[in-house]
Amino acid sequence: MMEHEKVLVLDFGGQYNQLIARRVRDINVYCEVWSYKTPLEKIRAGGFKGIIFTGGPNSVYLKGSPVCDPEILELGIPVLGICYGAQLIAFLKAGVIAKADRREYGKTLTRIGGDGGNPHVGGIFDGIPGDEIVTWMSHTDYVEVVPEGFRITAVTDTCPSAAFEDNVKRLYAVQFHPEVSHTDFGTQMLRNFVYGICGCKGDWVMSSFVRESVEALREKIGGRKVLCALSGGVDSSVCAAMIHRAVGKQLTCIFVDHGLLRKDEGDQVEKIFADDFDLDIIRVNSSERFLARLAGVCDPETKRKIIGEEFIRVFEEEARKIGKVDFLVQGTIYPDVIESGLGDSAVIKSHHNVGGLPDHVDFEEIIEPLRNLFKDEVRRAGIELGMPEDLVWRQPFPGPGLGIRIMGDVTSEKLDLLREADAIFRDEIAAAGLHKVYNQYFAVLTGVRSVGVMGDERTYDYTVALRSVTTTDFMTADFARIPYDLLEKISSRIVNEVRNVNRVVYDITTKPPATIEWE
Ligand code: XMP
Repeated sequence: MMEHEKVLVLDFGGQYNQLIARRVRDINVYCEVWSYKTPLEKIRAGGFKGIIFTGGPNSVYLKGSPVCDPEILELGIPVLGICYGAQLIAFLKAGVIAKADRREYGKTLTRIGGDGGNPHVGGIFDGIPGDEIVTWMSHTDYVEVVPEGFRITAVTDTCPSAAFEDNVKRLYAVQFHPEVSHTDFGTQMLRNFVYGICGCKGDWVMSSFVRESVEALREKIGGRKVLCALSGGVDSSVCAAMIHRAVGKQLTCIFVDHGLLRKDEGDQVEKIFADDFDLDIIRVNSSERFLARLAGVCDPETKRKIIGEEFIRVFEEEARKIGKVDFLVQGTIYPDVIESGLGDSAVIKSHHNVGGLPDHVDFEEIIEPLRNLFKDEVRRAGIELGMPEDLVWRQPFPGPGLGIRIMGDVTSEKLDLLREADAIFRDEIAAAGLHKVYNQYFAVLTGVRSVGVMGDERTYDYTVALRSVTTTDFMTADFARIPYDLLEKISSRIVNEVRNVNRVVYDITTKPPATIEWE
């Protein structure tokens, strides 16, 4: 693939590390997130046009705080330090860091200007009109004395060094977070850094990425055979579409329909890929097999495990019929690849894979066509590949499917009931134009039954819970503020149209302490 100009985001474990990278890519510059522990030589060899230090834990003086090789600042590559990253630049250059009495947090009036020179010219604030902006702050420590050779370019009422720079060595530091949307002109600042200071041209464009990837895949695969497990989710679908574009019928997809999908979902997936894309797809309807294995099982982890194992088994059986393939496709995306500076992100992700890799499939090599992309880039790649909008914008759906949205044991009656309730909920959210506003929304069949009255009859029926969240990374989430009138409509449709449901509740818990799914 063509070599892209690139920027390094050096990760010190801050909560916004991936956000920084996404913002840089949004302005068409490719970047990678590497741990602060990366050896100097590797960084030097990486050919980066600029380096951004992320935020991180509180204090650079604290024992065990993440510190990178100080020589990174001497490579002659421009560096932008953000928050902890700013303090670290000061620390490594023998400035003085102090602890404030209280934390400066939230939107903060910031005055551009400082000790000499015009901060609007050629630096981070280039082109920003006026001298006062609002920035997003979240820190207790601050740089009390900037290192020799640096000058202050912005201050706040409590922070005497909201921004500082050494424009000869091209080292820039901001105490606030330009990557967060609450910071005025934040994108402009990142643009100033990567374009103005680092000299990038902006060659990271999805259309050319897709073209180059397809060419590279074609070259790599040659005349050989590829096998892909298609789930109907965004990642595996985009993988399949991309490989199909590269090698057409050399790709075979196995779509294991475990019977735990949403209403009509299996048919939709089959239609899109078999008919519209003319892709070789084998749909394996194995719902009975899954239901049999799940019969009477109530424990969530056991259910997950059974579904994951059975999925692999079905896949293996089908794959064996095909015989030897050369490549197996994995829908790994960039957030799965990033090793957080503090090495903790892998843990949170572990439950996201259904099982692991199949043992008994005869393949030589794994290909991961999306391993450099963030989720929003995967969606854009999908659009480039001609995939329908509603598939590309499909909300996340867990591998174990509705199996973990039915509390207690899973039966086909419960699945039917939940599918109907969930379809009504999704219809109404879409009809209200909120399907891109809420990041995930679904119905849960609680194990609770309660007394109700229908006509003159007493009922004793199921309770459906509605869950809807807004989130950027699915690691934390807020419950969506669905308007009451809309909730009323959804609730009344569900109790009227779905048999054996007489009560609807709305889940108003954030994550943490709750998770998004109920199991
Ligand atoms: P939780 O419930 O952990 O979910 O807050 C966070 C996000 O992950 C999705 N999720 C899964 N995705 N396999 C997946 O592919 C799984 O086993 C799984 N469990 C949860 C969940 O839907 C939410 O988007």
